[in-house]
Amino acid sequence: MAKKARSTPARGKVTRAAKTAAPPRAAKAAKPPQPARGELVTLLDFVRYAVSRFTEAELVFAHGTTDPVADAAFLICEALHLHPDQLEMFATARITAAEGAKLLDLIARRVDSRKPTAYLVNKVYMRGLPFYVDERVIVPRSFIGELLDSHFAGSDETDGGALIDDLGAVESVLDLCTGSGCLAILASRYFPNARIDAVDLSKDALKVAARNVADYGLADRIALHNGDLFAPLGDARYDLIISNPPYVDARGMADLPRECRHEPGMAFDGGDDGLAIVHRILREAAWHLTPNGGLLCEIGRGRDALEAAYPELPMLWLDTEDSEGEVFWIDAATLATLA
Ligand SMILES: C[S@@+](CC[C@H](N)C(=O)[O-])C[C@H]1O[C@@H](n2cnc3c(N)ncnc32)[C@H](O)[C@@H]1O
Repeated sequence: MAKKARSTPARGKVTRAAKTAAPPRAAKAAKPPQPARGELVTLLDFVRYAVSRFTEAELVFAHGTTDPVADAAFLICEALHLHPDQLEMFATARITAAEGAKLLDLIARRVDSRKPTAYLVNKVYMRGLPFYVDERVIVPRSFIGELLDSHFAGSDETDGGALIDDLGAVESVLDLCTGSGCLAILASRYFPNARIDAVDLSKDALKVAARNVADYGLADRIALHNGDLFAPLGDARYDLIISNPPYVDARGMADLPRECRHEPGMAFDGGDDGLAIVHRILREAAWHLTPNGGLLCEIGRGRDALEAAYPELPMLWLDTEDSEGEVFWIDAATLATLA
């Protein structure tokens, strides 16, 4: 997966010419001074302070939290080894001097570096489960997590009913483009009898996935494979394929917010129209599904383009609390018409 090349001048060539050509620097907004000792006392004081700094700095929230309050609460609870649910219980508890220094440092790093909080604390929660993350993987936020709950857990609240009736009968699941392994691990909970294969092109990402798989004691059920989509799997077939592949188009890649630039480019880059990998998955999936199997695939905003490319292919579009028409389901029989 091609990363965007940056034209960095060779070291020795950062010359006077480059210096003189540089536009005048915009005056930097003055940083607010750090609060003096004793000004912030309780856990809630630190959360409030962080919210003010995050809002002032216009940070982007898209990595497990969606607003400055949730992000600040997450950062501060994690740094204090508290579960986010314990915030209310300890809101008025005093923070020690050492803890306060650590919190102020983290708040400053979040603002200055724009690193997602999940990387600063090496953790993210997905569907209530904690996963280890660092810059080798994208911070998990796939809509497929919620869809596993709403469309595979036999919930009555689903709009389309369960996609697979007998979860216990699912013997094999493939998580294509697994990243941190989060979806494979979540899937292991819904399909108790399934062996799960998880593939990623990035060896670095698989190291993180291996850590998460080990943390959940799932090494005997989840096998990790390094390679390009289906290539490392031979002719294996699966009852279910889930995939959250890279699907950001060229324009989106150019406009990625600073927070997302800390994440691996290959986790986003879906080629010019964002659908390069999705097309490959669609074309190859039928060869890796059992006759009653199906593919659940997240594609972002490319629904119109995908439907235009396959006008004869009925895809079932599934909505979540925060997305509309960004994930489709298609069964093996329908996919076979493409193969
Ligand atoms: C959007 S991330 C999804 C990660 C994880 N499933 C999640 O939902 O958080 C896409 C992943 O696909 C991997 N990837 C990119 N191109 C790939 C390819 N050709 N074959 C397999 N994996 C690929 C990236 O390394 C990245 O981990």
